[in-house]
Amino acid sequence: MTGPESEGLQLRRAVCPGSYDPVTNGHLDIISRASKLYDAVHVVVMINQSKQGLFTVDERIDLLRQVTAAYGNVQVEPFHGLLVDYCKQRDIPAIVKGLRAVSDFDYELQMAQMNNGLSGVETLFVPTNPTYSFLSSSLVKEVAAWGGDVSHLVPPEVLDALTKRLAKD
Ligand code: PNS
Repeated sequence: MTGPESEGLQLRRAVCPGSYDPVTNGHLDIISRASKLYDAVHVVVMINQSKQGLFTVDERIDLLRQVTAAYGNVQVEPFHGLLVDYCKQRDIPAIVKGLRAVSDFDYELQMAQMNNGLSGVETLFVPTNPTYSFLSSSLVKEVAAWGGDVSHLVPPEVLDALTKRLAKD
């Protein structure tokens, strides 16, 4: 083993949770910034069985792994359950979330306070790059479904997967 853990130092770890259906350039911006702030970043696809996605959880994970491959300290996995339980099981003290606009703040604050009250885990908010302040997976899917150009909003691997999936529907 090499790195901080081999020297008995605690790795600074954080979680970037989401639905990632699919991952966008906005998500990627937050993940890459988190990867500079923490030794290890866990990108976690939270499974919500009551929400039918365009992509399966396995497909989302596969796309996330492809687009984060260049970051040496990012790992991707699914989780079914409460985010605080994921954090507790892996002893991760921090959640990193992007804030696009004031409209995100109310709900994000509620979740941050709930998660902190449940387990003591902290949430760190990163202001979204203004280039992506309007961007969401839902909008990307809607625009792409109607033939709009989303090539500047998602990584090429995602654009390819979107084009193939929507051609089938
Ligand atoms: O990408 P999204 O859909 O905005 O992400 C929301 C997500 C998945 C991060 C949030 O719904 C979540 O943390 N769900 C896991 C279940 C949970 O812990 N719920 C309590 C939140 S206080």
